[in-house]
Amino acid sequence: MRQMLGLGTAKRVISEVRSDLAAARDRDPAARTAGSIEILLGWAGVQALLAHRFAHALHEHEVPVLPNLIAYGSRAVTGVEIHPAAKIGGDFFIDHGSGVVIGETAEIGCCCTLYQGVTLGGTGFARGKRHPTLGEYVTVGSGAKLLGPIMVGAGAKIGANTVVIKDVPENSTVVGNPGRPVRVEGRKVSGPDSDWTHLSDPVADALQAMVERIVELEARLAEFDGKQRGVAIVRELRPGSGPSSAGG
Ligand SMILES: CC(C)(COP(=O)(O)OP(=O)(O)OC[C@H]1O[C@@H](n2cnc3c(N)ncnc32)[C@H](O)[C@@H]1OP(=O)(O)O)[C@@H](O)C(=O)NCCC(=O)NCCS
Repeated sequence: MRQMLGLGTAKRVISEVRSDLAAARDRDPAARTAGSIEILLGWAGVQALLAHRFAHALHEHEVPVLPNLIAYGSRAVTGVEIHPAAKIGGDFFIDHGSGVVIGETAEIGCCCTLYQGVTLGGTGFARGKRHPTLGEYVTVGSGAKLLGPIMVGAGAKIGANTVVIKDVPENSTVVGNPGRPVRVEGRKVSGPDSDWTHLSDPVADALQAMVERIVELEARLAEFDGKQRGVAIVRELRPGSGPSSAGG
């Protein structure tokens, strides 16, 4: 049943927009010293969210056509597509904006952050709940695709370009395609097939075996002609550690 759009709804939307502005200032180092007007004018992710807050309020009151028009206009301006029915909690921040898609039945808890190019999408033509649900304090890295009615536990971090098609445990870090937890509660995951980022690289193994055979053949050749050949240098293909890539 259609309800009246009242002062209560307006107050709620204004307080949501305020908390989104605070989230931008809190989580984007470039916005730390920017004023509210500057952020509203210059941060596409914040503009998209502002449009969504209004579109969602109108959608909840069963206003026809207008919510979709607002979402369409917002997409044209910001490159962020949020369905008016998507439920988004407070303190939400979309960094850089462009390319983000948030589907109709997606639900996002408080204090989440999405980077550019994130999709919270469905897997096919199923009806009903078909988009992801994110708990509180979830961070989703740029280009990550979260598909289907999966649950992402509170405090989870999804690495850039990860493809997630299964539920994600709370306070875990999930990376890769398909996405798998590599950290849970700050600790490396243990057990068979869990340390998949360190599985041996078959191409590197084949090259290493070839180098060993060449060294052996050169040593044997040297026995015949007395010439010493240079030692082959084998560089590690994948460094064991590096700086954290988290953050904008
Ligand atoms: C996943 C992420 C949040 C880091 O989370 P974290 O809990 O601090 O995890 P770590 O940095 O300890 O990484 C855990 C492991 O996953 C690997 N990893 C991290 N991010 C990865 C990614 N996107 N894809 C594949 N592997 C990744 C790390 O190399 C590390 O491997 P190790 O076990 O061999 O050391 C971060 O790497 C990331 O992707 N952030 C998104 C940032 C982003 O999108 N920025 C856009 C700015 S414009």
